Amino acid sequence: MVRFTNKYKQEAKKFEMKPFSGARKTSWRSPSNIALVKYWGKHGIQLPQNPSLSFALKNSFTETSVSYSFKKLEKTELEFLFEGKPNITFKNRINKVLAVYSEYLPFLQKLNLEIESKNSFPHSSGIASSASAMSALALCLVSIEKDLFGTLNEKKYFFQKASFLARLGSGSAARSVFPGFVVWGEDKKVKSSSDEIAVTLQTKIHDKFQKLNDAILITSSAKKQVSSSQGHDLMIQHPFAEARYEQAGKNLKKLIQSLEKGDEEKLIEVLENEALSLHSLMMSSNPGFTLLNSSTWQIIEKVKQFRIAKNLMLTFTLDAGPNVHLIYKAKDKAEITTFVASELVQFCENGYWIDDQMGSGPEKLI
Ligand code: DP6
Repeated sequence: MVRFTNKYKQEAKKFEMKPFSGARKTSWRSPSNIALVKYWGKHGIQLPQNPSLSFALKNSFTETSVSYSFKKLEKTELEFLFEGKPNITFKNRINKVLAVYSEYLPFLQKLNLEIESKNSFPHSSGIASSASAMSALALCLVSIEKDLFGTLNEKKYFFQKASFLARLGSGSAARSVFPGFVVWGEDKKVKSSSDEIAVTLQTKIHDKFQKLNDAILITSSAKKQVSSSQGHDLMIQHPFAEARYEQAGKNLKKLIQSLEKGDEEKLIEVLENEALSLHSLMMSSNPGFTLLNSSTWQIIEKVKQFRIAKNLMLTFTLDAGPNVHLIYKAKDKAEITTFVASELVQFCENGYWIDDQMGSGPEKLI
């Protein structure tokens, strides 16, 4: 099914660009998200091998602004600043993504673009920023389409297209354009779900899980030995690939049931199974690799002990790196913060951790 791909390609043919004078600007803040059921393995053009489920964060975000003016000369270079300075690596990545977007937003070639971007978290914190960065950029570009052509006036269509474009930049970014619990990837049980765009999970979430927090413990900020893109590629020949995609589907079903029923034990079981399965897939790839370090394991052990001792709903998940995300209910914040400060901060690089929580999705700044 490539419903949205075809629709956006057809629509792209109708854009008629008229010259305009002066420069205009748009700016978006978009959050990172934390996956509870993981996307690991893709095919075709950024299509996921299995559905994933995440929630939007609040304090970990990217702010991107795009200034645009009508291009008089054919050959002008993109101007790009990251945290106030030129950054050639990010600029190259953006140029690649803009080339992909030319099929859907051909008018971009007729614009001079000046892009500025910054993150709320330190760049070298080991926190993946592709989800927030690519979703913030996609949101700016759909805002430009709306401004120039008067399209996408309906909120639903605006965010669908943003999610579609964000996905082409980085798979997990598709989920960052929506608040609450979000699913990306087609699944029979999730209404309107699609491989091409993410959707908000339309189910009644139990009161217990309305407000979840995420304490992100940074155990290392070193550049990863193997990138997520390389990790996804290694799933192509992976001996456990089929079993993994089936497991993800089953975990999604279990997780949705636990979110509806307020089943804490099941939520813990699914989150930890997903986190550990993700990293065991990396270890059993060919070549095998691990992104975890001894601090990751020590934190995991401490979390399990604390959960039993205090009888609290405290669990963990991991993204593609050694940092641990502690997931817990907002009402337990004081107790968890004390636990982090007294027992876990010793495993964090320079004592650094990010106090985050569920957020309300992206915000238009200009
Ligand atoms: C482990 O979205 O970073 O965080 O599509 O190649 O940009 P690309 O990969 P990316 O992969 C994220 C992997 C993950 C799990 C998840 O967020 O679902």
